Amino acid sequence: MTDTLPSASPSASPDAATGGSAGAWWRDAVIYQVYPRSFADGNGDGEGDLPGLLEGLPYLADLGVDGIWISPWFPSPMADGGYDVSDFLDIHPMFGTLADADAVIARAHELGLKVIIDVVPNHTSDQHPWFRAALAAGPGSRERARYLFRDGRGPGGDEPPNNWISCFGGSAWERVTEADGRPGQWFMHMFALEQPDLDWTNPDVLADFDDVLRFWLDRGVDGLRIDAAPAMGKAAGLPDADYGDVAEFRTLEWTDNPHWDVDTVHEVFRRWRRIADTYEGDRVFVAEAVVNGPERLAKYLRPDEMHSAFNFPYMKSAWDAGALRSVIDATLASYEPIGVPSTWVLSSHDETRLVTRYGRRTTSSVFITDGAGEESDLELGTRRARAAALLMLALPGGAYVYQGEELGLPNVDDLPDEVLQDPMFARSGGTMRGRDGCRVPLPWAGEHPPYAFSPAGASTWLPQPEGWDRYTVERERDDPGSMLNLYREALHLRRDLPGLGAVGLRWRESADGVLDLERGSVLRCVVNISSAPVALPGDTQVLLASAPVDAGMLPVDAAAWLRPA
Ligand code: NOJ
Repeated sequence: MTDTLPSASPSASPDAATGGSAGAWWRDAVIYQVYPRSFADGNGDGEGDLPGLLEGLPYLADLGVDGIWISPWFPSPMADGGYDVSDFLDIHPMFGTLADADAVIARAHELGLKVIIDVVPNHTSDQHPWFRAALAAGPGSRERARYLFRDGRGPGGDEPPNNWISCFGGSAWERVTEADGRPGQWFMHMFALEQPDLDWTNPDVLADFDDVLRFWLDRGVDGLRIDAAPAMGKAAGLPDADYGDVAEFRTLEWTDNPHWDVDTVHEVFRRWRRIADTYEGDRVFVAEAVVNGPERLAKYLRPDEMHSAFNFPYMKSAWDAGALRSVIDATLASYEPIGVPSTWVLSSHDETRLVTRYGRRTTSSVFITDGAGEESDLELGTRRARAAALLMLALPGGAYVYQGEELGLPNVDDLPDEVLQDPMFARSGGTMRGRDGCRVPLPWAGEHPPYAFSPAGASTWLPQPEGWDRYTVERERDDPGSMLNLYREALHLRRDLPGLGAVGLRWRESADGVLDLERGSVLRCVVNISSAPVALPGDTQVLLASAPVDAGMLPVDAAAWLRPA
C-alpha cells in the first residue's frame, strides 16, 4: 500500500448532496441484527420470541448499538426461517402477538434504539391465503395473476417454462396439480418451492403491499429492510437465462439476468418512497440488493428510491489488505457522488460465522459453499474477526452487527443432518449444508446448554454445542479481553469521539499488507494483515486494540484505534 489518495471527502456535505437527509439517524447508525428465533426464549419452549427480545433490549442498549433490525417475525410455516410469510400483517404465534411487537417497539424507543423490520415482498409462503386462492381459482384467474403461473414447455407442458434456477438449488419452477387432478401449470419460486414469487407488475400486489408498509409504519417502525429486492423484477416474457459456466446464484457476478436486477423493479421502490415520505421522522428503507457492481447498486439508492443498502461486496471480501482496500475504495467512490452513506457488514443469518470463515484457507465468500468443509483455525479466525470489527467500525457510514458476532460465536458445522432446517440442505440433495450453523440460539449464561437462552431442561430448536460456556454473555461481560468487551468499547468510543460522524476517510501511506486510515483528526485505524508485526506511528495514542500492543508493535492480524497526533 503506497499511495495516500483521499478516498472520500468529508461527509459533512451540504444537505442537497444527501438527498435532504443530512443528520438523519441512519446515516452512521450501527444496527444489530436480531434473528428472533435464536435471540432469547421468553416462554420456555426452546424457540426465541418477542418477550425474550424485550428482555434483551437493555443488553443491546448497553452494548452501544443505535438500533435493531429484526429478521421476519410474521406468521410463517418456517420453510425458509420465516422468509416464507403467510400473513404480512401479524406476528408468528411462536414469537408472540402484535401487542408484543408494540411492546418491543416502544421499549426500544425508550432505550434510544431504532427498529427496522424485515419485509419480504418478492414472494409469499405457499400457505399465504393469496397463494391458496390462486391454486383453487385455476388458470387465467385474477387470483393466479398475483403470482408467476405459466404453462409448461414441450409435449403436454411437461417441461418447466424456462431454465431459471432457484437460489437453493434445482429448477425455479414447480408444477401444480389442477382441481380436476391433471398435471397443470407451473409456478415460479426463486427461493424454496414453498416461496412462490409474486408478480410485481400486478396492480393487486402493488396495492396490497402499500397497505403492508402503512400497517408497520403506522405502528412506529423506523425502517424497513427489503428482502431480495433485485428479485422482484422479471424480464417481460420470462426468457431463458444465460448462466455461463456456473448455474449457481452468483448474483454479484450476474449481468443482464432476466430474473435478477431487472430495471422495472425501480418503479416499485419509487412508489414506496412516496409512501414513506408521508411519515414523520426519518423512516428508512434498507435494500438487500446483491447486484453486479456499485453502478447497479446506486440505482436502488437514487433520491426517490431506497435510503440505504447492505454492502455485500464488503461482507464477502477476503481477509486481505488489498481486497479490503479496493472494496472500501469502490464503495466510497460509488456512494459519495450520490450523497448516500455506505454501510459495512461482516456477517448475517445467511453467512458462515466470521471467526470460522476467517480461520479457513478461503476467507472470501461469494457463495455460501465457498470454503465450506475446510478446516478452521478458530484462534486465528477470532484474532482476525476482532481486527475486522475495529476496521469496520472505523469506516464512515453505518454498520450492521449480526447477533452473536459480538460474542465471537463460531459456526456450528457439525449439526446432525436430522436437525437441519434450511431448505438449501434438502433441495441440494444434501450437498449444501445451508445456513443453520450460524443460526444456533445465543448463549446467555451458565455452563451447559441451553445457556439461559431457555430455562434449564428445555431443548432449543437447534442444539447448542457443549463448550459454549466460554461464549456466554455472562462470561464475556466479566472478561476485559472478550469479543463482547471489544465491541462494547468500540461502539461506545465511536459514539463518544467528538465529530467522528462528520469526517470522511483518508488513507495514510502504509507498508504492503497494512491498512492505515484516518478520520480527520478524530481517529486513526491501523490494521496489520501482513506477515510480521508493524510499528505503530509514534506520535499517536492507542485508544483501543484488538490484540496486545507491546512496545508500540501491532501484531499480525490485529488492528488498533489511535488518537492522531
Ligand atoms: C434473503 C434472506 O436474507 C434469506 O435468509 C432468505 O432465504 C432469502 N432472502 C429469501 O427470502
